[in-house]
Amino acid sequence: YTIEWDAAAAQKGGYDSFMAKEIHEQASAVADTLRGRLDDGSLQLDEMDIDPSVLRSVDKIVVVACGTAANAGEVAKYAIEHWCRIPTEVELAHEFRYRDPVVTEKTLVVAISQSGETMDTLMAVRHAREQGAKVIAICNTRGSTIPRESDAALYLHVGPEIAVASTKAYLGQITACYLLGLFLAQTRGNLYPDEISALMEDLERIPEHIQQVLDASGQVEKLAQDMKDVSSVLFLGRHVGYPTAMEGALKLKEIAYIHAEGFAAGELKHGPIALVEEGQPVFVIVPSPNGRHSLHSKVVSNIQEVRARGARTLVIAEEGDDAVLPYADEVIRVPATRTLFAALLTVIPLQIFSCELATAKGLDVDQPRNLAKSVTVE
Ligand code: G6P
Repeated sequence: YTIEWDAAAAQKGGYDSFMAKEIHEQASAVADTLRGRLDDGSLQLDEMDIDPSVLRSVDKIVVVACGTAANAGEVAKYAIEHWCRIPTEVELAHEFRYRDPVVTEKTLVVAISQSGETMDTLMAVRHAREQGAKVIAICNTRGSTIPRESDAALYLHVGPEIAVASTKAYLGQITACYLLGLFLAQTRGNLYPDEISALMEDLERIPEHIQQVLDASGQVEKLAQDMKDVSSVLFLGRHVGYPTAMEGALKLKEIAYIHAEGFAAGELKHGPIALVEEGQPVFVIVPSPNGRHSLHSKVVSNIQEVRARGARTLVIAEEGDDAVLPYADEVIRVPATRTLFAALLTVIPLQIFSCELATAKGLDVDQPRNLAKSVTVE
């Protein structure tokens, strides 16, 4: 038994769980997704092997996915619409399949799946192709079913993910979606080559920033240990902070079995604010103050609103953003980057929070109850 335990511990590389290990691999995971994609300033996705004329004819994109992959898809929507001006929807794969969606030969379906084996997503892919749509799969597992049944595939290259709750694959999925978005913009001429190089340069700096967030994990770990007995946590964000809030809540449900909900911060006043009572922990993901000013100030107002009703505000904000200080019970800092790219940074403290909290509760972080790494039934 001792030998077995040692072997398992060795595989975890000194971490308590595979999830903790995978969280801490995320700087290299994103670097791996980005590796070899730039050639002399222009983006190359040769691996994807799709005719550029197909990409030029697309008039609508539908992203289909489940779970964490669907949250990555929501981030993709903000990026693709902004860069490419192609109407983009994100739909849970199981809903897409059964509602008679409008899909034509000009629809590009992007199926995101870490495993490439999720049955719900596979059925959506089959349905889309039957309607004549082209399907690009964004996957981590080579040779899996979804990329095999798609017209083209873009891989994450983040290595195997063992923990049921997805972390490094989520960052890889978002990164791959940025690459796809920029490649579409390049192919269709929506962005100038120098704009694409500038974006890629900032994207290539993200692994360094991720490492900085990971190096500061002690603060969030302590917070999680102190909060291990909470019964409910809310997460708020706008723009790409909204899917980040959803993903933060999903992680906490999945592995810590704590009631958690993510909301678009603007939706708060339309209902969820009724949930806020004295001491309610609320994470707020704040966009960069250097991006669109109104976006930033709206989120700062949302922090103020929940604080005024007694919430304990746990604020994830960019370094140097002092506007949050008067309303934050705790400020967790992330390095400055573009509004869109912040999705690769702000989720990390939330992953660490869930992982550490579940560990503190003595739960099986890597094998949460009732869940499977890959759900191969509908
Ligand atoms: C399962 C896992 C989730 C995952 C989802 C989609 O429900 O428990 O962590 O996000 O499937 O998996 P996929 O392999 O398609 O990305």
